Amino acid sequence: MEARRILVAGSGGIAAYKLPEVVRALVQAGHDVRCALTPEATRFVSPLVLQALTQSPVRHALFDPSEESQIDHISLADWAELVVVAPATANVLAKLAHGLADDLVTAVLLATRARILVAPAMNVNMWEHPATRENVERLRGRGVAFAGPEAGELACGWVGQGRMAEPLDIAAAAELELGAESLAGARVVVTAAGTREAIDDVRSLTNRSSGRMGFEIAGEAARRGAEVVLVAGPTPLSTPAGVERLDVESALEMRDAVLREAETAQIIVKAAAVADFRPAAAVHGKIKKENLAPDTGMTLELVRNPDILAELCASKGDRVVVGFAAESEELIPAAQRKLARKGCDLIVANDVSRADAGFDVDTNAVSFVWPGGEVEELPLLSKRDVASRLLDRIEALRAKRRAGSGEGRV
Ligand SMILES: Cc1cc2nc3c(=O)[nH]c(=O)nc-3n(C[C@H](O)[C@H](O)[C@H](O)COP(=O)(O)O)c2cc1C
Repeated sequence: MEARRILVAGSGGIAAYKLPEVVRALVQAGHDVRCALTPEATRFVSPLVLQALTQSPVRHALFDPSEESQIDHISLADWAELVVVAPATANVLAKLAHGLADDLVTAVLLATRARILVAPAMNVNMWEHPATRENVERLRGRGVAFAGPEAGELACGWVGQGRMAEPLDIAAAAELELGAESLAGARVVVTAAGTREAIDDVRSLTNRSSGRMGFEIAGEAARRGAEVVLVAGPTPLSTPAGVERLDVESALEMRDAVLREAETAQIIVKAAAVADFRPAAAVHGKIKKENLAPDTGMTLELVRNPDILAELCASKGDRVVVGFAAESEELIPAAQRKLARKGCDLIVANDVSRADAGFDVDTNAVSFVWPGGEVEELPLLSKRDVASRLLDRIEALRAKRRAGSGEGRV
């Protein structure tokens, strides 16, 4: 495997004495490894050992005037392709879950766009405490990967779950997170978030799509080595690492950007919620209530937006084009009709009537609807896992095409 940039961050638990073994395994695998520690972690493991193993300075202070100009927490966060937290204390999990950043490690964890793998280690009662359970669920939902903890005899004398995973298992989990560059050489266009259709210069029509699903797909494709362009409607989400982002507002702007970018792409995933209609004419300035007849409502004339997915499919060539169908009822028949109407390779049917799926949540419940009529129902997963499964299917479809064995479900 080629060398990847891995930041190994340690926090203040007994298992930190195993941290050098984690680092050693990753260095031996040929990776470029750096280390950061919480101040508490330095009580359990010597920065000097880690410095010798990585041949790099080990940071453990957020405010360090002698080092801040060279590698501050942001550049460390930007540098990493993967951050491995081992051991991850209950305290660090809680901070990460709630976005606290009061030391170097947690500041890096908040600032990074890299994948995060945590290896928790703590007393069984700390692990089973409802607060920790909630934090773990929150982090899993956000796509943070976990290695362990394992059950067994704990350093504190208790027996139960809470022992840090073995260093070699953590290193293996890190390799898995980094993944093979299976999409190297492919250009992928992903659309995400809702569009905003202007009524006037102040008001607009939009929808509840947060963009998270599309952002996860873009991030996952980049992690697999693809050149990724993310055409995004308005959303506060930050751009995933390695992704080129084009911000657009309206469906018309999205159409222009997508059709232009699609020309040189091999894979197009349309996860954006593009408005079907827009106001017939956007008024310059602000429509004033006083200018309307008193005690009457206001009628907004809407016109149809272009069907970007259908346009893309019309000149699809050998590209893989995937659409999303967000439905609140009759999910599968509606997705099958959409697939037949547009002629894409796969529709991801999204049940937006569920509270734990669809808009504005970290999890999603989707089904893959294939041209042959097959439907593959996935369990409730984090959006990151849905992105990963989707890209696995796309890769399999491309492999099938290359082998000349046709279309349909893979
Ligand atoms: C001897 C000793 C061992 C500890 N072991 C653990 C542990 O294994 N897991 C854990 O979550 N906390 C453990 N703690 C508590 C943490 O050190 C404490 O919560 C600390 O604030 C963690 O800081 P950090 O998360 O910033 O590194 C231990 C404390 C002591 C004194």
